[in-house]
Amino acid sequence: MGRYADIYRRSLEDPEAFWAEAAEDVVWQKRWDRVLDNDREPFTKWFIGGKINTCYNAVDRHVDEGRGDQAAVIYDSPVTDTITSISYAELRDRVAAFAGVLRKYDVGYGDRVIIYMPMIPETIVAMLACARIGAIHSVVFGGFAANELAKRIEDATPKLVVSASCGIEPGRIVDYKPLLDGAIEASAHKPETCVIVQRPMHGAPLNEERDVEWNAAHDGASPADCVEVDATDPVYILYTSGTTGVPKGVVRPTGGHLVALKWSMKNIYDVDPGDVYWAASDVGWVVGHSYIVYAPLFHGCTTVLYEGKPVGTPDAGAFWRVIAQHKVSCMFTAPTAMRAIKKEDPNGKLLAEYDLSHFKSQFLAGERCDPDTLAWTEEMLKVPVTDHWWQTETGWPIASNCLGIEVLPVKPGSPTSAVPGWNIQVLDPACNPVAPGEIGAISIKLPLPPGALPTLWQNDDRFVDSYMAEYPGFYQTGDAGIIDEDGYLHVMSRTDDIINVAGHRLSTGGMEQVLAAHPDVAECAVLGVADQLKGQVPLGFLVLKDGVNKAHDEIVADVVRMVRQEIGPVAAFRQATVVKRLPKTRSGKILRGTIQSIADSQDYQMPATIDDPAILGEITDALKELGYAGG
Ligand code: COA
Ligand code: AMP
Repeated sequence: MGRYADIYRRSLEDPEAFWAEAAEDVVWQKRWDRVLDNDREPFTKWFIGGKINTCYNAVDRHVDEGRGDQAAVIYDSPVTDTITSISYAELRDRVAAFAGVLRKYDVGYGDRVIIYMPMIPETIVAMLACARIGAIHSVVFGGFAANELAKRIEDATPKLVVSASCGIEPGRIVDYKPLLDGAIEASAHKPETCVIVQRPMHGAPLNEERDVEWNAAHDGASPADCVEVDATDPVYILYTSGTTGVPKGVVRPTGGHLVALKWSMKNIYDVDPGDVYWAASDVGWVVGHSYIVYAPLFHGCTTVLYEGKPVGTPDAGAFWRVIAQHKVSCMFTAPTAMRAIKKEDPNGKLLAEYDLSHFKSQFLAGERCDPDTLAWTEEMLKVPVTDHWWQTETGWPIASNCLGIEVLPVKPGSPTSAVPGWNIQVLDPACNPVAPGEIGAISIKLPLPPGALPTLWQNDDRFVDSYMAEYPGFYQTGDAGIIDEDGYLHVMSRTDDIINVAGHRLSTGGMEQVLAAHPDVAECAVLGVADQLKGQVPLGFLVLKDGVNKAHDEIVADVVRMVRQEIGPVAAFRQATVVKRLPKTRSGKILRGTIQSIADSQDYQMPATIDDPAILGEITDALKELGYAGG
């Protein structure tokens, strides 16, 4: 038996022994009484009775152990022409100071703090400061509009919000303050204080009663120390798209998160303390939480915080410049970023300008990695390229080639096989495992390993309904796929209405709610269609109310504007078309999957329950006009 197979088997046969051993690698204030409590499955708890602090393990621990002078964070921002480095000792002082600020504004253990920020060091400082005093942060991605922020403020009921005057996107400044003000106005819950980082390129007017500038907020605050929290306390809430417009508040448990992420750095990524690790994502996504902030810091690495894009800041050599300049050894990004670089520099001319001799491995996740992108990345970088699969809910990889355990042969199109701790099974609708090579619902047998969500924020019922009810004893990933005869997993598609646009997870149901609010729209459907750069992009179908005779272009422009305003630019909703009717089953369900297959020129079977097959001809014509369905 190979090393991977042996470790994987042990992790499932005796999960308590396996994770107790991994837990020795983090610093506890008090050891756990029980490793696993699964008495109330699916509400699994790990390290019950343990007392621990996330910030101590991410920062102070390394100062105490002699890494005080090592860079903890390198902030590389081509959009502001800034590169700075923050040592572990300096990070500890900045975090302790801001933790004192939180205290000064009456934020304490268990209180929530929303962080709506661009990719700047203060974002990391704010996250760690919350963890230092046992407050629960919830970071909201900057590409979401006021309405999405409002939903999160209402659900998390934060005492305080940390934000900045602006974000910087190529060619435009994102004015955060009006979005924040609009969100607070729209929300029934009102935070007491907003701490605002004023960026030099664009300031924001402050509301004297509620807002305080970041530096001024420090006046009179004393540095705060790390507190002990229960291993089962939430360290953060991260909202992610659900099947409705209401986001799900994924809860991350403190102890399990620490143990699993620390374990993953060596075993999955094969990275050592002191190495430079770079996840080119955004702190607003789970990849940013886990692999820009927490895991590299838990492991004593140097993490790169990159405020830029793969292309255009200034060119398609930007990633290679960062790798060379900061001696990055392992990098993580989404396949879409590689496709963007390939489009502009297919032969890697810019790559040839940089010395990548420190670079050892490239990881990809966030969306399916098509074999062409994998092959191109391997050919360019000449290091192992690893596609790995996971989700906001799991917090760390479910399937991957575990480079620190045993390097298995790569199969393009597959994220290899289950990571130790994850019992992946592909099920049929009757909850039986399908035969190798057959498609089914990718599910994980309970209990989930440490770090995975124990519930949704104040919503146990939705947790059970969304993930646990359909296949009792299993967690539903929402992905469909196969395990082949060699045990390799292939993730094929979602089983719900979630789409993946440039590695960003979005709900088409949420977009439909926006379209349906247009006064001229009687009915609508939004689905994800294949896109060469972004993997998928949303496409809207509108059926107008009787008697509406406005120009269709005008209505399409309206709904495009509405989605940008309600959900945000990140939805990349740019296309919609007006049709006379939508294909439905006899019971009235819109056949979104069939429309999607036609758009992507895939074979499909005429659904037996279709109400009127002739509609598919009309839909095909509409799609051809938009350049899909082979048009
Ligand atoms: N704040 C405000 N707006 C943001 C934003 C942020 N943090 N991030 C993105 N946006 C905006 C963009 O400016 C763009 O707006 P526009 O419609 O005015 O142009 C819109 O949201 C869509 O952005 P994006 O999806 O990033 O598309 P793009 O065309 O600007 O860039 C890529 C395409 C491929 C370069 C880009 O998507 C990318 O870098 N992808 C990597 C994805 C990634 O890291 N995913 C995380 C999972 S690992
Ligand atoms: P998120 O919660 O934003 O990380 O999105 C998770 C979803 O992205 C998964 O459920 C998959 O649908 C998709 N995804 C992430 N990584 C991969 C991958 N390596 N291969 C295929 N799909 C992926």
